[in-house]
Amino acid sequence: MTTNSIHEDRILILDFGSQYTQLIARRVREIGVYCEIMGWDVAHEHIAAFNATGYILSGSPESALASEAPAIPDIVLEADKPVLGICYGMQSMAHQLGGDVDNTGHSEFGYAEVQVIKPCRLLQHLSDRADQQVLDVWMSHGDRVERIPDGFYVTAQSANAPIAAIAHEQKPWFGIQFHPEVTHTRQGTALLSRFVIDICGCAANWTADNIIDDQVRRIQEQVGDQQVILGLSGGVDSSVVAALLHRAIGAQLTCVFVDNGLLRLHEGDQVMQTFADNLGVRVIRVDAESRFLDALKGITDPEEKRRVIGGLFVDVFEEEAGRLTDAAFLAQGTIYPDVIESAGSATGKAHLIKSHHNVGGLPDTMTLKLVEPLRELFKDEVRRLGIELGLPATMVQRHPFPGPGLGVRILGEVTKDYADILREADDIFIKGLREHGLYDKVSQAFAVFLPVKSVGVTGDGRRYDFVVALRAVETIDFMTARAARLPFDFLDEMSRTIINSVPRISRVTYDISSKPPATIEWE
Ligand code: XMP
Repeated sequence: MTTNSIHEDRILILDFGSQYTQLIARRVREIGVYCEIMGWDVAHEHIAAFNATGYILSGSPESALASEAPAIPDIVLEADKPVLGICYGMQSMAHQLGGDVDNTGHSEFGYAEVQVIKPCRLLQHLSDRADQQVLDVWMSHGDRVERIPDGFYVTAQSANAPIAAIAHEQKPWFGIQFHPEVTHTRQGTALLSRFVIDICGCAANWTADNIIDDQVRRIQEQVGDQQVILGLSGGVDSSVVAALLHRAIGAQLTCVFVDNGLLRLHEGDQVMQTFADNLGVRVIRVDAESRFLDALKGITDPEEKRRVIGGLFVDVFEEEAGRLTDAAFLAQGTIYPDVIESAGSATGKAHLIKSHHNVGGLPDTMTLKLVEPLRELFKDEVRRLGIELGLPATMVQRHPFPGPGLGVRILGEVTKDYADILREADDIFIKGLREHGLYDKVSQAFAVFLPVKSVGVTGDGRRYDFVVALRAVETIDFMTARAARLPFDFLDEMSRTIINSVPRISRVTYDISSKPPATIEWE
């Protein structure tokens, strides 16, 4: 292990609006180097203060020729540090440094072969063929570089882009027309590693155990001997925060786990077992089922249900927290994509379709300071930390579960009866997915309760009972999704098991809608 601080070597990724910017950051982190993303239009002081070891310029849906095209900040080109321009990043480099970019219909989308014609430090010895230096890459561009700026040379070409990669003769500046961050570019990680490790000279010390050591030290410094409270939901993020804080400050942490009656089968007991029994974390379990169900009586509108559940969660949490009079800090499971999105840079302007309530939100009236030890981490890093901290893989790898829980999976009015039926059906489906090795192949799966009656027949009798829909989706970002192609025999088995063992269900359907136009949840 190197003695470098894990943040000392650092890459700044300037985002020009590409959908792949976060993927670049995740790849750099996987290589073991800390990086952050900033919008291309961020104030120069922030770029200077970050003091990057090297810069990566992202792609963009824009054209470098447009009058208001996003531009590379001068401070980056004046810094005399390594720069890697990807796609738009390369075009913008060429354009700003005196070369020519053209948009006369030479677009390339998808697979392409790139031939290295003059090796440079970035591309040397990287190849997908034994007899010639050719790379299988993934392209996605409308514009292309037609003439390189003074001081550069062309290092690679493709059928549709005679200038597919460039390098500066003296400076450690490189441009590539293709996307190394996507897995279709087979040497993509090797290329990024070449840039950040060999060219920038960064040490690969961004690893789960180093991150834990670093966070433990920072939490101890921030908190001192004061008390911290945390809203534990059983989801991945708050669970990892709990495990991390427990490692850092032990008994100074108190978790509040609110059982709102809208959790999955045995979920409350599992949370208590994992944290209180196995890890020895202090957890206050609040049984608030009847308060939530009373408050939800007669409410059928999904957004209204979300508001009621979210509002009541804050009330209950606040009451419990109020009893811990010596608490000075509130811990939250904010992760890096939340930070990027709320920064409102060129990155992630996700529009709000449903008002998502995040469990653990800071109640307005509380005057606690925040501890957010996951603020720098992507979800996959949070999961790796969780495993390293000793959380069960089934907890760390679990699908997302919405804050309002079963409240938005029971269509219309929520009742305890309906919640109990749904819990049984959902548990059969999730267990079935696990037993058939399908759970980790889908991004999210659950059952939905439909309060409509449908006719069925069992033995000699007619049944007039409720309907359950099963939903399983595949998605990368949860913004778009497609229904998982689960094997028909598996669905058949699930349908039979649910109808036979869950009273009052007479029919099971499988939801095959994509998002858009449907959403993942039914409400
Ligand atoms: P939709 O239904 O909008 O879901 O396609 C996208 C992702 O968000 C989750 N989701 C929620 N999460 N509070 C949450 O914390 C909510 O109100 C909420 N609604 C949807 C959903 O489970 C999926 O992962």
